[in-house]
Amino acid sequence: MLEEFARPPGAAPLKFDVLMSLRSATSALHTRLDARLPIARADASLHDYVAHLRVLRPWLLGLREALAGHGPALDAVARHVDAKLADLEQDLAQAGDAGPADVPVATGRRAGDSETPGFAWGLAYVVEGSQLGGAVLHRRLRERLAPHALRYLAGSEEKVAARWRDFVHRLRRTVVDESGLRQAQHGAVAGFEDLVRRFGL
Ligand code: HEM
Repeated sequence: MLEEFARPPGAAPLKFDVLMSLRSATSALHTRLDARLPIARADASLHDYVAHLRVLRPWLLGLREALAGHGPALDAVARHVDAKLADLEQDLAQAGDAGPADVPVATGRRAGDSETPGFAWGLAYVVEGSQLGGAVLHRRLRERLAPHALRYLAGSEEKVAARWRDFVHRLRRTVVDESGLRQAQHGAVAGFEDLVRRFGL
């Protein structure tokens, strides 16, 4: 079982870098999203933004559920997901979309390790990383979609970058063995695959 900050001082160097491993396990899936999401097109409209948020909402609700109960660091990620969901609801309301909340669906369960902390760290990697892309989209869309506030995507790039650095630091200090790494890879791939499926890509 993984413990937060479990590496003892002076422990032998790891044979892997968890960030690089998760990145290479998911890069093809990221490319698929980046290349095919309507919201990433140069002519993306407010309608595309609303449709994007409506797909993200149940995905985020499922992730939030899967992250809870795996220790303080992942509880903090879950709370951040709550804050992003609140932004998302306000964005939908501002765009005049007051539709009912979608039913949460569990995120990409895999038999065996889907309840492990390592799997949850992989899911957290996907949701935390998605905010880097969000900052890029915000810069790209803020003028085109003004006066909409795009709260879900907004956030200063410095803050997003600092948050990401902090997350990666914790990830590296927590996923410290091969078994945890395997679980985290499964979680990260499952998080991406779930989203790709929801977008029908
Ligand atoms: C909602 C769907 C998306 C998800 C789940 C997602 C997920 C991720 C993840 C996990 C990372 C961290 C990669 C790493 O450093 O290992 C990342 C980074 C990034 N994403 Fe996305 N992303 C999404 C959409 C997008 C889109 C549409 C764009 C294009 C604007 C984009 C652009 C980026 C950029 C520029 C980075 C930073 C790369 C770097 O600094 O090396 N993402 N994303």
